Amino acid sequence: MTKAPLAILISGRGSNMAALIDAARSDDCPYEVVLVASNKPEAAGLATARAAGITTFAHSHKGLSREDFDAIIDAELRRAGARYVALAGYMRILSPGFVAGWAGHMVNIHPSLLPLYKGLDTHGRAIAAGDAEGGCSVHLVTAELDDGEVIAQARVPILPGDTAESLADRVLTEEHRLYPEALASYIRRHG
Ligand code: GRF
Repeated sequence: MTKAPLAILISGRGSNMAALIDAARSDDCPYEVVLVASNKPEAAGLATARAAGITTFAHSHKGLSREDFDAIIDAELRRAGARYVALAGYMRILSPGFVAGWAGHMVNIHPSLLPLYKGLDTHGRAIAAGDAEGGCSVHLVTAELDDGEVIAQARVPILPGDTAESLADRVLTEEHRLYPEALASYIRRHG
């Protein structure tokens, strides 16, 4: 089986990235990770990726326009031969031109049951609203933040006494399971 080349964009610890890399080791996984790139040269996930034998690229966005920075990342993704891009804790708003160039080929994981709680502090907002459930969503990336078609979701209960941190931990466990599975299934369907 020819595996689809996947690039992963991160800004931090990269635990979802690690889950995607781990899943790619399986023979029947339809993608292979060809690049991990970051806008934060100090992102901990870069070392994790290198330890797994993955090529990394880091370039700070500081002092660059959104368009100029995205053009640098886009060039690296193309150079690596990526066909799909997975955002995994990538804390950047993307320029419309960059997003358009990867339409249908770029996915993100967001720690809420979209369309609820786009943006930041998703778990704190779910608890404050008195929600019975939280969760995470894998969605296609469009120019609007956290707004593209949802391709998979996982739900967890919100328990009495939960804090944003305890809920985040419970959701993160589900993220690590959901993201590789949802991405693999999407790639199997779309080639
Ligand atoms: C995850 O909760 C993800 O859903 C959100 O940012 C967090 C990143 O964590 N977009 P990690 O860097 O993958 O560990």
